[in-house]
Amino acid sequence: MAGSHTVGNGLHTQPIGIRLGLTGLVLVLLGGLAASASHLVNHYANRDERPEFTLDDIKGAYHGINTPSLLNSALERGHPAELPAAEKQILLDWLAGTRIVEDYDSLDLEIPPAEIIASRCLDCHTRQTGAETGTPLPPLEYFDDIKSIAFSREIRATPDTVLTMSTHAHALSMSIQGIVVVALALLTRWPVRTISLLVAVMGLGLLGDIGGWWLARFSPSWALCIVISGVGYSIGQAILLALVLADLWWPSRAESKPNSKGQSNKEDR
Ligand code: HEC
Repeated sequence: MAGSHTVGNGLHTQPIGIRLGLTGLVLVLLGGLAASASHLVNHYANRDERPEFTLDDIKGAYHGINTPSLLNSALERGHPAELPAAEKQILLDWLAGTRIVEDYDSLDLEIPPAEIIASRCLDCHTRQTGAETGTPLPPLEYFDDIKSIAFSREIRATPDTVLTMSTHAHALSMSIQGIVVVALALLTRWPVRTISLLVAVMGLGLLGDIGGWWLARFSPSWALCIVISGVGYSIGQAILLALVLADLWWPSRAESKPNSKGQSNKEDR
């Protein structure tokens, strides 16, 4: 029987066929975890319309993001004070539309935005004045400068129906997957306190991850909970699986002790 500090007799005492088969299954599951991690990064990386994978991608996917552009907010708050109201309106309309690139120097507009910017902004917003005065303002000399601060970001969260579908698929499969890993880990010889800690991290991780998807609907700050919990679930599970593998193949000191099924350990060497 197992001592009080461990749960099971260890998987090492099982026949070779079981050990080989379990090893295969555990390796595939570990590969699946790695593939999920890289799929997640690729899938969400562009969610916030910027290439790097950041917390904003998660916020965009589960809460949505609505940030007015820097250019828009400067004009809205009445900067620069000298800008005539009519020209300000032309710029605001241009930024609110969907033709920011096309209409930048369009002669169809009363005054093309490019012209307004050149006459009203470039006294201050050039690289040169920035360097001279020592207070670098966002330069507005080239269209590339303007493009980088002209676009608002409006990212819609994944619709409820899609999130429900995703919850249905992931909640059922990932919880069962976790329960199976717990069952396997309980059959190993490793100290129950270690297993207990890892099971807690994995289980609460899954709860925080999938629960976070829905809570992020109300507040984007849950995005951090989603990430930390998801990492907890995956890493907890990966370590448990590694412990299962180690238990399958690591010879135990109590080898000579006959186990409860009366098998000899020698036959599977
Ligand atoms: C007289 C000099 C001057 C002119 C002309 C001027 N700006 Fe500025 N701008 C500033 C200064 C100084 C700041 C930094 C302090 C501030 O944010 O008000 C600034 C800041 C900004 C910012 C950054 C705001 C932020 O929150 O970081 C934007 C965008 C901007 N200006 C756009 C414009 C545009 C567009 C025009 C022309 C329509 C313009 N500026 C004309 C001096 C100027």
